[in-house]
Amino acid sequence: MKRLLVGNWKMILTLSQAISLAKSILPSENHEVVVCPSFIHLSQVREVLQSGIKLGAQNVSRETFGAFTGDICAEQLKDIGCEYTIIGHSERRIKEKETNTDIHIKLNNANKAKLKQILCVGETLEEYNLGMTEEVIQKQLADVVSTPIHESLVIAYEPIWAIGSGLIPTAKEVERVIAKINAIVPSPVIYGGSVDSKNSGIFSEIPSCKGFLIGGASLKPEEFNKII
Ligand code: PGA
Repeated sequence: MKRLLVGNWKMILTLSQAISLAKSILPSENHEVVVCPSFIHLSQVREVLQSGIKLGAQNVSRETFGAFTGDICAEQLKDIGCEYTIIGHSERRIKEKETNTDIHIKLNNANKAKLKQILCVGETLEEYNLGMTEEVIQKQLADVVSTPIHESLVIAYEPIWAIGSGLIPTAKEVERVIAKINAIVPSPVIYGGSVDSKNSGIFSEIPSCKGFLIGGASLKPEEFNKII
């Protein structure tokens, strides 16, 4: 499998900024490169992406069709050209109170619509300090992953304390958590949390780390292209 590099653009860019960023992302022979703009920018970003770069959504509705004002379902994302969707990002779990039940339903809906799922898991700083990381992740996976495991499932290990903070875990810690995840689900695991062009090499050396979910650094073309 090619290493997966996912840029999560969050709710940060205007349309013209998103278009100009999209045009500057370079394709890669060694990596599957995916960008996840805001829903409202998906169509226009798709038009300007260089060939080979994939489109992903940052979220998907837990509903599949019908009168759900403001929601966007998996079929609509697939129809507009998305191949991936992020599900269960900690910003949604914490700020939008997404539950494991919601996440479980979203994973199944995305799978049915043939959207690859990037499921985010990770511990808070408090849980990290208490040595509870593996326990937390085991529970997050047990509660949301269906059996049989979707072939199109990717797990993003994102320690919540590392997101946007400039802090990162050690390579050994990440390797240990990935081994724990793989003991539960055989899906590829990528790492996310303050990845940039200076620290990505630390994690690239972990054979079981199959890529990155990148927030802040994915908004800077020179940074993102260096990681590619
Ligand atoms: P960050 O964000 O790279 O800015 O830490 C990662 C994420 O939220 O997915």
